[in-house]
Amino acid sequence: MIPRNPRLSFEDALPHWAAHAPFAQITNAGSTSLPYVETYLNKVMAQAAAVIADARLKADIALFSAQEGNHYRQHRLYNRRLHPCYPQLQALEAGLGRDYEGMLARDSLLANAAYCEGFESLGIIHAEFFFERIPDLLEGADARLVRLWGWHLAEEFEHRSVCFEVHAALGGGYLSRLRGFFRALRHLGAYGKSVSDHLLETDRAAMGERERRESVRLEKQYRARFMRFALPRLLHVLSPAYDPRRKRAPRGAQALLESIRPGA
Ligand SMILES: [Fe+2]
Ligand SMILES: [Fe+2]
Repeated sequence: MIPRNPRLSFEDALPHWAAHAPFAQITNAGSTSLPYVETYLNKVMAQAAAVIADARLKADIALFSAQEGNHYRQHRLYNRRLHPCYPQLQALEAGLGRDYEGMLARDSLLANAAYCEGFESLGIIHAEFFFERIPDLLEGADARLVRLWGWHLAEEFEHRSVCFEVHAALGGGYLSRLRGFFRALRHLGAYGKSVSDHLLETDRAAMGERERRESVRLEKQYRARFMRFALPRLLHVLSPAYDPRRKRAPRGAQALLESIRPGA
C-alpha cells in the first residue's frame, strides 16, 4: 500500500464527462460527497490510531489516511467545476459536512469506525463495477475523469482491509459492523440521491420534452444496471464470514496504479 498522486487538474472539465449524462451525473454526485466522507474517515482513523497498540495496523492507518487525503483533494478540485452550474449543490454538501460533525461529536469511536468500514465495503463494490462492468460507459469519456476514478477506486481496493481491521481491533463484532454498514448505505444513498436529483433536474430544466424523457429513461436504466450488479455483493457484506482481505482485485486496477507515481 503506497500513496500516489496523479496530479490531475480540471480547468475545463464538464459535468457531462461521459456520453451517458445520467451516469456522469450520478457519479458526480458521489464525487461531491468525498471531501466530506473522506475527511471524516481520516478523523475517525486518527482517533483509532491513538488507542490501537498494534504497530503494523497503525502504519496501515497512516498509509490509508495518506491515500484518502490525496483522494479528497483531487475530487475537491473537480467538484469546484460543478458548483457554479448547480445552485443547491454547496448547501447539500454543507449538510453532509454537518452530519459528520454531529457523528464525531455524538457517537462512540466504535460506531464511527463501523460506519467507516461500511463506506469502505461499498468502495470495493464500486471498484469492481468501474473496472470490469462499464467499458461501454467509459468509452470516449474525458480521460482525466476516467483516471481520477480509476486511481481512486484501485486505491480503495488496495486499502480495503484497514477499516475492517480497525473496527475489529476496537472490539467491534458482527452486529456492530452490520449497523455501520446499514448506516453508511442509508446515509450516503440518501445524500447521493438528493444530489444526483438536483444535478439531473437542473440539466432537465433546459431540455425539451423528448430529451427530458430520454434522460429519465437513461437514468432508470443505469440505476437498474448498477443495482443488479451491486445487490448480490451488498448481500455478501451481510455474511458473518465477510472479509474484504479475501476479495479478488478488479482486473486492470494494479496496472493502473503502477502507472501513477508515488507521492503525497
Ligand atoms: Fe478514497
Ligand atoms: Fe477508502
